[in-house]
Amino acid sequence: MTFRAFHPPLRTLMGPGPSDVPPQILEALGRPTIGHLDPRFIDLMDEVKTLLQYVMQTENSLTMPISAPGSAGMEACFVNLVQPGDKVIVCQNGVFGGRMKENVERCGGTAILVEDEWGHPVDPEKVEAALRANPQASFVAFVHAETSTGARSDAQTLCRMARDHGCLSIVDTVTSLGGIEVSVDDWGADAVYSGTQKCLSCVPGISPITFSPRAVEATRARGRAQSWFMDLDLVTGYWGAGAQRTYHHTAPVNALYALHESLLMLQQEGLENAWARHRSNHELLAAGLAKLGIDFIVAEEWRLPQLNAVRIPQGVDDAATRNRLLLDFGLEIGAGLGPLAGTVWRIGLMGNSCNEGNVEACLEALGRVLE
Ligand SMILES: Cc1ncc(COP(=O)(O)O)c(C=O)c1O
Repeated sequence: MTFRAFHPPLRTLMGPGPSDVPPQILEALGRPTIGHLDPRFIDLMDEVKTLLQYVMQTENSLTMPISAPGSAGMEACFVNLVQPGDKVIVCQNGVFGGRMKENVERCGGTAILVEDEWGHPVDPEKVEAALRANPQASFVAFVHAETSTGARSDAQTLCRMARDHGCLSIVDTVTSLGGIEVSVDDWGADAVYSGTQKCLSCVPGISPITFSPRAVEATRARGRAQSWFMDLDLVTGYWGAGAQRTYHHTAPVNALYALHESLLMLQQEGLENAWARHRSNHELLAAGLAKLGIDFIVAEEWRLPQLNAVRIPQGVDDAATRNRLLLDFGLEIGAGLGPLAGTVWRIGLMGNSCNEGNVEACLEALGRVLE
């Protein structure tokens, strides 16, 4: 068998992530690798942390990227906080809340599920009732932007409720960060994780996290995490302050160049402008989809501009349509997950993929395939 260098086809990524990585970020990725303890690299790490604080709207000093994808950011939050016997209120309105429940159970905790229908936001009244019924609960965990359904939940209210009941909040912002408002300090959120491959339009494989001072205190009180790699006490020996950085693991040096570049681009655009761009392209897409007779599954108030979950028109073959979009138009859109498989498409407008040209190309291609 002969092996050859891999050259990926050109695609327009309008699924649930990854999104299109702009040439400027790919160019940063290809710069020469230097040592992960090189003083110049340490300067870059400091800048990445500061830029992440801006993008996550926080002054938390424990704000840094985990060297692994969003799932690792999720796991880092749970393994550093949840102890055997802890009760955790887990909100589930899609796939990723289910993964939070798994994490709680693997940490030896008990997950108290607050369930909402897929496509609906987390219902704060149900969370309040669960908090009242479980005064020993220590955490409230929820997904801000459910990628499996395209629904946003009210993070500010949920974090406030957690605090009012003496709980810490654990918040998934994998799909929200950079696309809609994520204001960690304003919300009073405690442990927050995200991903690089959605609205940051960076390469996949890194997970920004931030811990409030209360969450940092709780990790200390918890004692040694069962995961060596995710143990934030150890990781912060490398990502912590100034010159005393010590080796923990070999950082993904080039991927961090790319993250730095993507954060810089977001800072130059301005967070509010990026949110407005996501909103206006979503509106353009929604208007075009309406003309094609395609409906959203989420009520307007709770729709994520960056993840448009729509009903597949009756009689249309899901897989065949997505296949034609991919093969004839180089356009990727996402399939439905779990109970939504076969009935829903997920059209992403994330980060660099979120532009007018893509919206028009997607509507044109979809219109032609549906004909
Ligand atoms: C809401 C949410 N949480 C967590 C993850 C997991 O991230 P990753 O696939 O980078 O591990 C995803 C990925 O799509 C996601 O959408």
